[in-house]
Amino acid sequence: MDIKAVILAAGKGTRMKSETTPKVLHQIMGKTLLGYVLDNVKNFVSEEFVIVGHHAEDVEKFVNTNYSNAKTVLQTPQLGTGHAVSMVCPNLENFDGLVLILCGDTPLIKEETLKNFVEFHKTHSSDITVMSTIFENPTNYGRIIRDTDNSLKCIVEEKDANTEQKAVKEVNAGIYCLNWSKVKSAFGELKSNNAQGEYYLTDIISWGKIQNLNVNAYILDDSDEIYGINSRTNLAEATKMMNRRNLEKYMVNGVTIVDPDSTWISEDTEIGQDTIIYPATYIEGKNKIGKNCKIGPCAHLRGDVEVFDNVKVGNFVEVKKATIKSNTNVGHLSYIGDAELGENVNIGAGTITANYNPLTKTKSKTTLKDNVKIGSNSVLVAPVTIEEGANIGAGGIITKNISPWALAITRSPLKVLENWVKRQIKQ
Ligand code: UD1
Ligand code: CA
Repeated sequence: MDIKAVILAAGKGTRMKSETTPKVLHQIMGKTLLGYVLDNVKNFVSEEFVIVGHHAEDVEKFVNTNYSNAKTVLQTPQLGTGHAVSMVCPNLENFDGLVLILCGDTPLIKEETLKNFVEFHKTHSSDITVMSTIFENPTNYGRIIRDTDNSLKCIVEEKDANTEQKAVKEVNAGIYCLNWSKVKSAFGELKSNNAQGEYYLTDIISWGKIQNLNVNAYILDDSDEIYGINSRTNLAEATKMMNRRNLEKYMVNGVTIVDPDSTWISEDTEIGQDTIIYPATYIEGKNKIGKNCKIGPCAHLRGDVEVFDNVKVGNFVEVKKATIKSNTNVGHLSYIGDAELGENVNIGAGTITANYNPLTKTKSKTTLKDNVKIGSNSVLVAPVTIEEGANIGAGGIITKNISPWALAITRSPLKVLENWVKRQIKQ
């Protein structure tokens, strides 16, 4: 059966207190919240609709540049989650499959969980399935209210709940699977007579019950996965949760993480066996690290980095958009950006690829071929290529290409004035 996804991303995110960035474009280790959600559905749905509203142009631009299969649908004004879904009705007028609805502020959900959720919906011949979980502290989430026979009755939002309802620990994850042809008419019938004066998507549960539809809840064991981000505090907590999950995955696969408490590695980083990640290392974005590498302590990989086997990226080294081939060392205090480093290259301490021209606002590439040795404290002014085997003397400022096996020295000759200090003291 065809599945389409609808991702709600139009809300203001008032509790984030952000002037410049819509909530769903805030990031966890170099990737936006919305990016996580889209990545988790793109492999098994035929099309994604992202509902945009607050800072719509920014969200549209993000979606259009990164997800060619996704469409954006504008919601103005933003009158609630139910109203948001109703915006997509014209696009799905004749659609007869399943619609998976998710919130753009719930990045920890796993693809595998969503597939299981859809499978549950199908095997139960469900018309409406909502994902729920048990939270010891359910504050701020919609509560799942059940009848005496334990069947679903409705969802009540925190602001509309009475004391008895507030005590319920089963909460709404904000993820739904709908048999679209049976449920689409609900979106013309939702009411806004609640504490927030909004059209709540959650009301489709009670609507479905009235219509005698088959309405079910899928209870998720790992409640971390549906942790929603409404504030900066939530963002920090979700980043920690995501990181713990990632580090566990690397360790299970044979990577040593010396200190998981001070190491941050993004979900989209691949790491080979027997690589050691030393403390205080921060790896964000998409990266690939080979086997038997040593990374850190205090290294910063900023994304689009590919490191081959047996490579050392040492302390206080920052790497961005770079390839580093096997047996190469970038030991200390260096910046490698927009660069390609061959095999057996040695980068002396304090080497910088000067990749950015602030006048033209352009970035250029530095290429170091195999067996190149760069002396400490050198600046490689891009665009520049150092051909195979060439050496750069310490303190080199390299502004043009260097031929193979050459030695390039740019420092002025050393001058030694014998007894100069003693002469100063006598006067
Ligand atoms: C919502 C659910 C709540 C659930 C929780 C799970 C409703 C009414 N409440 O609450 O039951 O426990 O998610 O995280 O659905 N949005 C729009 N347009 C709007 C309003 C919101 O696109 O007009 C988007 C937001 O950008 C956000 C998502 O919908 O991505 C959820 O909205 P939010 O305000 O965060 O809802 P919660 O209060 O968290
Ligand atoms: Ca939310």
